[in-house]
Amino acid sequence: DARPLVVQGAMDLEIQELVKALDKPKEITFGSWTFWQGTIDNLPVVVSRTEVGITNAAAATLLAIEKFQPWAIINQGTSGGHDPSLHRFDIVLGEKAINYGKFKSNHRDYGQGTNPLEWIPEDVKLNLDGKRISFHGFEGDPELLKIAESVASSYQYGRVVKGIIGTADEWNRELDRIKWAHERLGTSVEEMETASAAQVARAYNIPFLGIRILSNSDPKMKTGILRQGPIARNMSCKSLKP
Ligand code: 5AD
Repeated sequence: DARPLVVQGAMDLEIQELVKALDKPKEITFGSWTFWQGTIDNLPVVVSRTEVGITNAAAATLLAIEKFQPWAIINQGTSGGHDPSLHRFDIVLGEKAINYGKFKSNHRDYGQGTNPLEWIPEDVKLNLDGKRISFHGFEGDPELLKIAESVASSYQYGRVVKGIIGTADEWNRELDRIKWAHERLGTSVEEMETASAAQVARAYNIPFLGIRILSNSDPKMKTGILRQGPIARNMSCKSLKP
């Protein structure tokens, strides 16, 4: 049998259209993590609901690899804007995914408070063939990126750009924190799964791509403004998270 493509999304709203697109989907659950195995145009596809956050994403990715031996993994879903030049409904193709929630801090004594903007970001390490290798981020597979770019012009609701996906178990709304991540690490958007799934895929050398739609951003960043287009006419902003 041909190896499947695994397409991941954290929440039902991020996978339900994909599950609908499957021919004869078979639902399989391991622990907390559910998969739908089927075909699209006779090609094997497994849709995975990873659940929210980095631990869930890592576990779901490991299960996907061990149970289904995919030839590639795509992690996709919603995200919050970090790059002030992006607008809601723009799509970021992940040239890179960075775990931006990993830090150490310098010493401060009792009573000296805490300043997260001074925390020092740390790279993630992976044990590859007995050597611990540092990763500042995990690159999107160049071939998958090319394929995604080749169909980008069919997307009508915003721009499709290459960028850096920032992953952490955080939902940030402090603009100075968002600016810090964007300026220091180059993040285009923030979410909670991609870098974690990418890390596990890298350990198995499985081609991986993260794709995130900018579903929310702070109105003060001016990026919450919808571009003119079908969405602006048909969809209320109220259906989106803040
Ligand atoms: N910050 C963090 N996660 C976000 N998500 C969407 N927008 C954001 C945001 N601004 C996604 C995460 C997670 C869920 C809470 O929604 O990836 O799955």
